[in-house]
Amino acid sequence: MRRPTTRSRSHDTDSMDGDPEIGESYVVTRITNGVPEKTIAIVVATKQVTDDQLRQIRAEKEKLQTNTPIEVSESAKEEPNPTAMHTLYYIHYEGMDRRLDEWAERNRFLGFASSEKPSPSMGIQKVTRSQRRIDEEFNHLPVGYEVMGATVAKLEREYEERTKVRNIEMVTLGRWEIDTWYFAPYPAPFDQTVHLFVCEYCLMYFNDIKLYSRHVKLACRRRTPPGNEIYRKGNLSVFEVSGYQDRQYAQFLCLLSKLFMDHKTLYYDVETFLFYVLCEVDNEGAHIVGNFSKELDTGNNLACIMILPPYQRKGYGKLLIQLSYELSSREGWIGTPEKPLSDLGKVSYRSYWWWVILGTLENMETDTVRASILSEETGIASADIVSTLYPMQMIKSWKGDHIVRASKRVVEHCRSLGLVRPPSLLLDEKCLRWEPRRPRGPPRTRPKHK
Ligand code: ACO
Ligand code: ZN
Repeated sequence: MRRPTTRSRSHDTDSMDGDPEIGESYVVTRITNGVPEKTIAIVVATKQVTDDQLRQIRAEKEKLQTNTPIEVSESAKEEPNPTAMHTLYYIHYEGMDRRLDEWAERNRFLGFASSEKPSPSMGIQKVTRSQRRIDEEFNHLPVGYEVMGATVAKLEREYEERTKVRNIEMVTLGRWEIDTWYFAPYPAPFDQTVHLFVCEYCLMYFNDIKLYSRHVKLACRRRTPPGNEIYRKGNLSVFEVSGYQDRQYAQFLCLLSKLFMDHKTLYYDVETFLFYVLCEVDNEGAHIVGNFSKELDTGNNLACIMILPPYQRKGYGKLLIQLSYELSSREGWIGTPEKPLSDLGKVSYRSYWWWVILGTLENMETDTVRASILSEETGIASADIVSTLYPMQMIKSWKGDHIVRASKRVVEHCRSLGLVRPPSLLLDEKCLRWEPRRPRGPPRTRPKHK
């Protein structure tokens, strides 16, 4: 690609000579909730598209009414030109999650990102290592390579290289058309399909709408996930699916989940996992909402959790988290989710942990309690209790254990800060028909919080 002849070094520049280059950082326009903002982004890849393809991409973006529409450039308002080619740039916004990566047109680029201190109006500052850790923990920004060990950093780099460009842009699933978030390793040729069609019942995938429609209308006999229905309340059901018994469904479920998860995923070695699939049920069938997986014989009561974007922020995530704890409680052990948690995983777990921990502390007639005892009471692992309470300075180290400060005043202070938000969907344990096959210990009874 041609190198630009001159480089603008100002964040406020409105024009830029030359074409953006892979690996370079630029000031770009990003539209958030309809408002354009200047943001720093790095170019990850480029691709050439025809006039027709460009129009199609724009139309699909508009149809989905995403918050990041591609602006209509002057050239695109003209009559279609079958021979014209356009360059699109795959950009990653600095310090933001990769699900926000997108293909941008040239007119989004305003100038080179300066190596000087950015202007305050950009709202972006250089960060120290310790600030980076705080950002990662509390603001959910991704952790930098500099704070990882060498091996982890190498693996992270390799993973990012392999998955840096989202391959499938959109998935049709039942009545939903969903913008995908991340790369997913569907087998060829499906991995190169911009628009994938997935049967919402058996999760089989297609790159051709006709084949997909025929499958759904004529071929697919399934209207629920396989496995046992272990929970039913109102129109919600959860099915327990064995990766060993229903291997293909489990693999398809992992691939679908990967479209919305950036890490930690299994795709083909599913035999040692159980999957809990949450569905909204109506006369047509059980429509998949999300799922979590659980690896047998580990200390984790949940491996990966995913709620499909159209169903997010309605309480389904915390409902499944409650279920994961209820299952380990019935099995008589204290579980923890597999780490690392994603940014959204962290907010969901933090919210659940605050609710359970503070509810338990309120019922205790004491000003201090050992983290290990609180762990027994709540079913939450000590390390998760410590990481939740530490930022509020409620933890002290004492003789190899952690002591939790639990005075009424401290608990009230936490409540007044809005840290406790009860789940909007409460798991109804009476509706859970599930007994452990191999109990790991005596069943534990956990206090209930409403
Ligand atoms: N921005 C800010 N807060 C959010 C967002 C968001 N986009 N999404 C959820 N939350 C908050 C909610 O406000 C709620 O907190 P509150 O009750 O204290 O207000 C909490 O997170 C949980 O909300 P739910 O509605 O119960 O969760 P949801 O159904 O949206 O599912 C989940 C959460 C599963 C993490 C979902 O966001 C998802 O599938 N993300 C993609 C995959 C992923 O990152 N999974 C976790 C990986 S880590 C692991 O698997 C162990
Ligand atoms: Zn099917």
